[in-house]
Amino acid sequence: MSQKVQRILFVCLGNICRSPLAEALFQSEIEARNLVNQFKLDSCGTNGVHDGERADVRTRRNAMIHGINIPHVSRRIKLADITDFDLILTMDDSINQKVLKICMNDEQRAKVKLFRTFDEKNPGADVPDPWFGGDEGFENVFQIIKENTDIWVNRLC
Ligand code: 4NP
Repeated sequence: MSQKVQRILFVCLGNICRSPLAEALFQSEIEARNLVNQFKLDSCGTNGVHDGERADVRTRRNAMIHGINIPHVSRRIKLADITDFDLILTMDDSINQKVLKICMNDEQRAKVKLFRTFDEKNPGADVPDPWFGGDEGFENVFQIIKENTDIWVNRLC
């Protein structure tokens, strides 16, 4: 029996650290579970400052240590994303509020959820922005995103 494809968009500020990593980790997890055909994934940022760039080299380097490649090229969120995706996962509260502001109705707003909504230790907490910090911040963010990716995949499958 064919199942409806679930379209998921991951959103952060610059689309070069948190959301492309979330997209890549989600992709890796559904590949491992043989569920690739059930999902369409993408990520974007709210500020557009890094449009056209690969993910931050520190994010890519840290992900590669864990065997995760991040091929995504940064892009800014657009209005059509709100209709084109079923679930929009935001990396922190300020991003969540920005995305909610461009929604036109309750049906669209219901698609928007914090990525850490079901986090076992800190439900609803922000995924910290590693941009200004050191290497340990990138590993911390990797672990947070990995944990929550597994939670989402378990819930959605
Ligand atoms: P991201 O991190 O939102 O996780 O991609 C950031 C990347 C770049 C900037 C801010 C946050 N920036 O200000 O350029």
